[in-house]
Amino acid sequence: MSSTISTAAASQTEPRRVPFSQLRDLLLPTYRSHRLRLAVGFAALVLVDLLQLTIPRIIKYAVDGLETMTISTAGLLRLGGLILLIAGAVVALRFVWRYLIIGFSRLLERAVRNRIFTHILKMDMPFFEKHTTGDLMAHSSNDLAAVQMACGMGMVAAIDALVMSLAAIGFMIAIHPLLTLLALLPMPLLAVSTRILSAKLHKRFATVQEQFSALTEFSRSTLISIGLIKAYTMENFQTDRFGRLGKRYFRSNLRVAAIQGLISPLATLVGSLGMLMVLYFGGRLVIDGTISLGDFVAFITYLYMLIWPMMAIGWVANLVQRGLTSLGRIYQLVTSRSVLADPLLPAAPKMFRRPGFALNNLTFSYAADSAPVLKNLTLSLGPGIHGVTGRTGSGKSTLCKLLARLYPVADGKLFFGGVDVNQLPLQFIRSHIGYVGQEPLLFSDTIAANIALGREDASREEIIEAAVNAAIHDDILALKDGYDTMTGERGVKLSGGQRQRLALARALLCDRPVLLIDDGLSAVDVATEHEVFAGLRRHFAGKTVLIVSNRIKLLSMTDRIIILADGTIECEGSHERLLGENSLYQSMFDKQMTQNGSKETPLP
Ligand SMILES: Nc1ncnc2c1ncn2[C@@H]1O[C@H](COP(=O)(O)OP(=O)(O)OP(=O)(O)O)[C@@H](O)[C@H]1O
Ligand SMILES: [Mg+2]
Repeated sequence: MSSTISTAAASQTEPRRVPFSQLRDLLLPTYRSHRLRLAVGFAALVLVDLLQLTIPRIIKYAVDGLETMTISTAGLLRLGGLILLIAGAVVALRFVWRYLIIGFSRLLERAVRNRIFTHILKMDMPFFEKHTTGDLMAHSSNDLAAVQMACGMGMVAAIDALVMSLAAIGFMIAIHPLLTLLALLPMPLLAVSTRILSAKLHKRFATVQEQFSALTEFSRSTLISIGLIKAYTMENFQTDRFGRLGKRYFRSNLRVAAIQGLISPLATLVGSLGMLMVLYFGGRLVIDGTISLGDFVAFITYLYMLIWPMMAIGWVANLVQRGLTSLGRIYQLVTSRSVLADPLLPAAPKMFRRPGFALNNLTFSYAADSAPVLKNLTLSLGPGIHGVTGRTGSGKSTLCKLLARLYPVADGKLFFGGVDVNQLPLQFIRSHIGYVGQEPLLFSDTIAANIALGREDASREEIIEAAVNAAIHDDILALKDGYDTMTGERGVKLSGGQRQRLALARALLCDRPVLLIDDGLSAVDVATEHEVFAGLRRHFAGKTVLIVSNRIKLLSMTDRIIILADGTIECEGSHERLLGENSLYQSMFDKQMTQNGSKETPLP
């Protein structure tokens, strides 16, 4: 590993064509575990086909009997009754195969959906920067539906078409081999044209899927920032952009429809060509007396029966192409690898009671081709409360994210409890850390559930204790339903400061040996900040706490302050020392203290 690790390695840009042998692995386990269901379903399907194929034979007896006047009315009734009986059996068996095979395709869909979801949750932050939410949603809706259709109705139509066409052709050959050859002469035309059109369809369908992703992502990002859009009166602007994306999606769909619209009529045309052959040549055979009128009628019925399988060829080709394109995209997703992964041979971890971090000349950039955000940082973060400050963009949040193991670091640069982090399982390190991000994230759930996020087993008393320590308890009691109040989507029903303290309560409840607070108190008033800090001091005695802040009052209460400037450590030490030595810190102090320390002032 190089000293500057890039997250770009994680990204797979161009969609590549995945060999079918690999795609198959995604589906095989489900096929295996439901083989009995499939066997019974397909047996019923084949039986339906065979039963249907006997009907022209019965019609032939009736016609031949009528032609030679050798059949009685009772005989005709018996043959009609037989057809009815067969139809009854077809109804029952058709229900069986539909229930079993379509049910199977739903089971398959569920298995693949679970696999996608489980895989996505394991991915690292660079992955989520590359794949938008719209993209991921499209995978689990559109792509999955295409795979389900291909493996359900596609598979049924393929087998149905195969059995029907082989059996119908067999019966036709039994009547007259040469006539069969003539009737089937136009068939290769259909096969070739379907092949050409399907290849085009494959490409066009991929474009449709991409544009659907873009549309989904645009709607999502618009709805998520609806307040902003209203504040800036951007409704019309967003509607126009949405309209343009919708138009592109519509046009791509039309391009797909143009090909689909060609495939089915082509099958009908080829079928009609066959019919022309049969009427002309078959008719002559009847006139010659080579075949009976009954054979002729049965032959035509079989040819009609062949038209559906011929059309199914085009339709199945569509479904399979769509399914394969989608399966390829799903495959790429579920086989994408996280740069930030567990080591193959992890060091034997033991729980640290007083763990700390050590940074050894650490350099980090978000992408291979971008400038480093953190440069040659050497730092030791042991038990105690560390304050981190610096201008906006100086790398404070990046530092927190690296410590929380959200982004990868190179070997030998970051140590946890004296062990290189790359040798420790991610879960192990993260289970030691409480992390309060710069933007508090809340789920649309109750306040209590949001606080207990990392500790589902927490009692109500423990939740309340954490809320008291984060100075949010009184605010919660003032809400209509107290701890059972729903926070609304992303906590929209709470103030910025309340959200921050709720996120802090969550970290306090987890009570882990390390606590990282990335500007987590910026929206809290000074009196509350003091109260929270006192709680932290009591609660985290002997543990490692890192607080990012630009507030002098808060920083002055910490044990040691680190000033970051452009990704490097400009200065570190106690409040008193920095006041004497660092001009940036001095000017922060002057500005904030002249305003009675009641308000945060941006750094100069
Ligand atoms: N996910 C990302 N991908 C690429 N660049 C990023 C990413 N996150 C942050 N940066 C860049 O890294 C630099 C440091 O960002 P960081 O968020 O660490 O700053 P900060 O000190 O926390 O700033 P602030 O005080 O505004 O929160 C910035 O130049 C920013 O543009
Ligand atoms: Mg930040």
